[in-house]
Amino acid sequence: MTLIGFGPNMPQAPFVAVPREEAKKTRENLDSIGLLDTQFKPREEDDCILFPLYEGDEETWFEYAITRIDPHIRLREIFPNGPVPKKWERLGDLVLFPLDSFGQREQPPWSDVAQALGAKRIGYQAPIDKSVNRTSQAVLLHGSQGNVTFQENHVTFCFDPFSVMFSSGNLTERKRMASLDTKNEVIIDAYAGIGYYTLPLLVHGDVKHVHALEMTPKSLEGLSLGLEMNQVQDRCTIHAGDNKDTLPLLEGVADRVVLGLLPSSEASWKLAARSLKPSGGCIHVHMNIHENQFANWPQETKKLFEAYGNWNVFIDHFEKVKSYSPGVWHVVLDLGFRPKN
Ligand SMILES: C[S@@+](CC[C@H](N)C(=O)[O-])C[C@H]1O[C@@H](n2cnc3c(N)ncnc32)[C@H](O)[C@@H]1O
Repeated sequence: MTLIGFGPNMPQAPFVAVPREEAKKTRENLDSIGLLDTQFKPREEDDCILFPLYEGDEETWFEYAITRIDPHIRLREIFPNGPVPKKWERLGDLVLFPLDSFGQREQPPWSDVAQALGAKRIGYQAPIDKSVNRTSQAVLLHGSQGNVTFQENHVTFCFDPFSVMFSSGNLTERKRMASLDTKNEVIIDAYAGIGYYTLPLLVHGDVKHVHALEMTPKSLEGLSLGLEMNQVQDRCTIHAGDNKDTLPLLEGVADRVVLGLLPSSEASWKLAARSLKPSGGCIHVHMNIHENQFANWPQETKKLFEAYGNWNVFIDHFEKVKSYSPGVWHVVLDLGFRPKN
């Protein structure tokens, strides 16, 4: 029996390694023939997924699956009376609960809660602040301060969750950006944050270069860490500072511009149109709008952009990302630009 790549003190199990593309089908097959050992978590290594098996010749290390008992049931065991949260957000080793999820309890046993959820840190989520910096207002309740690191759609993010926002609900948009045909493109991410769109574009798209514009120091820190961790720093230039100063320096360079600021990115629309190559390109306009604007806002926005230069502008796509507040939606309008003559 060969033992491969031990983690210290980790449990071992026989395994099979399969390329990522085949992972879903293999998991189903192994499960259906009763060979998949579900007490362990499959893990990634290079371009493969390693599945733990009940039988096999070679062994490697695995982590135990977080819990085989529904964490909602475990929370109810800890708090047999009174309210327990029904939902939470997981960012790496941190679990964030909605504010006041545990009612008026004096001192909940946070370490039991952390253990029940397979987390090291617990915090309360609070609404993201409404300033342009979109700072996180999460509060730490158990464990230590410091960055979280986690993978989403094969992209590694690393940032200080108590300073910087991360909207798990925008996963569909991050995936959509990652799936666009961006081969050899030069892209400007005008509100880059920690790389919400910059990193998926660099990791998944065959992008030539991303110019990432960002002005908040803590976000710039997370962005640099993310670029290094995903080993894509050679294809990205960070432009630190207000994009009203940095965007004019990028006139005529971009095939695509991402304007990911809520509630509105309008302050940079004119500069974004100027930063497109003379041959044209695409701009992704993020905005919060009321659902009764769904019919008119795309057309009105297209007309505004037409007034910014000698462009024919086309509506390529209108994406409703998620509900933001009652009746109000985070939307993204993809506009295509072609020179008039
Ligand atoms: C938090 S992100 C938006 C998140 C992202 N759109 C998402 O959906 O997950 C917005 C970022 O834009 C940055 N920002 C806002 N105004 C800016 C400006 N004028 N110049 C450069 N960066 C700016 C903020 O610092 C923040 O990091």
